[in-house]
Amino acid sequence: MKKQEYLLQVPTLFGLEGVAADELKYGGFSNVQAQNGYVTFEGDLEDVARANMMLRTGERVLIVLARFEAKTFDDLFEGTKDVPWENLIGSKDRFPVKGWSLNSQLHSVPDCQKIIKKAVVSHLKECYGLSWFEETGSLMQIQFSIMKDQVTLMLDTTGPGLYKRGYKRNETAAPLRETLSAGIADLSRVHSDSLVVDPMCGSGTLLIESAMKALNIAPGLKRRFSFENWKIMPPDMASSVREDLKSRIKKDVTFEGFGFDIDASALQIAAENAKRAGVDHVLHFKEQDIKYLKSDSFSMENHKKAVFLCNPPYGERLMDIQSARELYRTLGVVMKPLKDHAYSLISPDEAFEAYFGRKASRRRKLYNGMLKCQLYMYY
Ligand SMILES: C[S@@+](CC[C@H](N)C(=O)[O-])C[C@H]1O[C@@H](n2cnc3c(N)ncnc32)[C@H](O)[C@@H]1O
Repeated sequence: MKKQEYLLQVPTLFGLEGVAADELKYGGFSNVQAQNGYVTFEGDLEDVARANMMLRTGERVLIVLARFEAKTFDDLFEGTKDVPWENLIGSKDRFPVKGWSLNSQLHSVPDCQKIIKKAVVSHLKECYGLSWFEETGSLMQIQFSIMKDQVTLMLDTTGPGLYKRGYKRNETAAPLRETLSAGIADLSRVHSDSLVVDPMCGSGTLLIESAMKALNIAPGLKRRFSFENWKIMPPDMASSVREDLKSRIKKDVTFEGFGFDIDASALQIAAENAKRAGVDHVLHFKEQDIKYLKSDSFSMENHKKAVFLCNPPYGERLMDIQSARELYRTLGVVMKPLKDHAYSLISPDEAFEAYFGRKASRRRKLYNGMLKCQLYMYY
């Protein structure tokens, strides 16, 4: 029997659409297309499980159920009522609704939420012959977006965002999101034979994501997803995908990572995170001020390239702008232009290159939360 195929949508951080699309293409998924702020592809329920577990740079995996135009609440109600919700939502399942609206006539999100809920209830009442839904079963989170009057109705398969890998317990100040860190590692061409250095590593996110990529450790192996509680999921599907991904972890790699910071408590947390992520055997952490970094002191015997990744303080949350710029100056001095070295630094400061002292080989616009940043790449 042919398996049911779905259109799937993966929201990404702005600037990472192409990276997420490449991940999906290399992962063997079909019809991958990058859009502004998200990527779409096609697949069945096994693909839903696999994408959730292996995507490093996507934020979640959504099943697209309908796209239609709605300028009135009647349009929204009728378009929603037409969807065959019973194919996915069981009579006891919970189906809350959330979403957003931008540049559209239907701009009140709470009102849209209410109308969509009413239309789904109305449809399911007819299907199940029920007058009331107890909603005590699995979570089937309905998500909608309305952009220029175009409605998209989706079902969230992920639950807590994909950046929640499960290896972080204690937060440090200003940590970088896991999905953004993975994107930076990808854009900086971290491979299984790279040597990666983060001279201001904080809780170690850039190094841990680099190591997981190099060792081909799927980021979702140690967490659970919403779809795992769905009645329509074949019972052994999630565990067989998990086992398959585990068997793909690379053991014989020369990858090594070195993390430095002046904050000993952050380094302690970084080491704990690395252990939980299963990459502590390839990472080394040491307390050291950036001014003592010697970029040419690392042995390159087993490595083709040394990749330095750095998310320095911006002078917004952690220190004032002048001190941050002093650090950029120091970074420019210690990060020497060497043939087999590449440097990637993320900062929102438009004057970064002036303080660092060199023009980047390439810049890439990325968002760290709401903050517009550039990834300054030197190679
Ligand atoms: C924005 S945080 C890095 C966050 C990290 N990417 C993460 O995901 O947790 C900047 C880090 O720079 C460190 N730092 C500040 N001044 C430093 C210096 N002079 N030498 C080394 N590290 C420094 C801070 O202790 C902090 O952990």
